[in-house]
Amino acid sequence: MRIGSVSVAHAITLAPMEEHTNYPFRLLCKQLGASLVCGERVDASDVAKRDRRAIKLLHTRPTEKPAVGQISGNDPHLMAEAAKVVVERGFSIVDLNFECPIRRLIGRGEGGALMADPPAIARLVAAVVRAVDCPVTLKIRSGPDAEHETAVEVARLAEQAGAAAVDVHARSVAQSYVGGPDWSVVARVKQAVSIPVLGSGGVREPADAIRFLKETGADGVAIGRGCLGNPWIFQQARALVLGGAAIAPPSLSERARVTLQLVEGEFDLYGHQLALRRLPRVACYFAKTLPGFAEFRQSVQRVKNLQEFKRLVRQHFVP
Ligand SMILES: Cc1cc2nc3c(=O)[nH]c(=O)nc-3n(C[C@H](O)[C@H](O)[C@H](O)COP(=O)(O)O)c2cc1C
Repeated sequence: MRIGSVSVAHAITLAPMEEHTNYPFRLLCKQLGASLVCGERVDASDVAKRDRRAIKLLHTRPTEKPAVGQISGNDPHLMAEAAKVVVERGFSIVDLNFECPIRRLIGRGEGGALMADPPAIARLVAAVVRAVDCPVTLKIRSGPDAEHETAVEVARLAEQAGAAAVDVHARSVAQSYVGGPDWSVVARVKQAVSIPVLGSGGVREPADAIRFLKETGADGVAIGRGCLGNPWIFQQARALVLGGAAIAPPSLSERARVTLQLVEGEFDLYGHQLALRRLPRVACYFAKTLPGFAEFRQSVQRVKNLQEFKRLVRQHFVP
């Protein structure tokens, strides 16, 4: 698949997830087979004024290329300014978020609120396309709610405004993350536009990714919650897509290696204090299948530094 000038090796990609898809996690997903990885949504107004936290969220390195940086907002000027910063940070693609259902954003008429106003989305896409040289994509939902499907209209207008691809989360904004996705909306968008269409929603197993691609005709599938604690899903799904031999689940030592790589990456990125605060949640995703998980979960709360965590992993991630 090609997204504008960017070549994407295959159809299995990582969906953006706030609090999860930071640089260390994205790198891991890339190394384990994701063709394209996307960072979490960052407020365009914060990015445009180079707020320190926003800039930190936009940390990337060439090792994860091609990577997508995502912004949200509803002011064409701020979105254009923020997009320039995303490119300057090193991302290959700028993605515009018109899907986020959180109340704070909806209240400001941003994120998913814009699914009720397709022309406004087109104006934002056009402003960003004018501002940057790289491909500009957008992440949308089926529509504001179950009764109003706007995805096809949004995708058509965005294509005319210069978008290089569209990524459809197959739920409505009102649905948030609850209830089953309706993949048929992705198929309708695919029929309506000629730019690449990617989609997400409910892919938990490698076979789901293949089913998603077959049923929707989409060019790519973005895996969200299905990869939390299980980034190996990318190599397993990639093998199915490319027709290679099936890949077995990871051994315990592989699980330990990957957990440590992620946690070390978080200590590098966030520093000791914040990484330590995040540690129980991050580590438990990877440990929840271990026989001694209950004990691990208690012990990890008491860990005071990286060395202690490594010791805990050596104790627990054993056959
Ligand atoms: C915790 C969490 C955070 C998310 N954050 C973002 C985000 O920052 N930007 C975005 O476009 N989508 C975000 N999403 C939506 C996902 O990218 C994806 O579309 C959605 O989770 C559907 O896929 P799934 O059912 O496989 O999880 C988030 C989803 C979750 C669960």
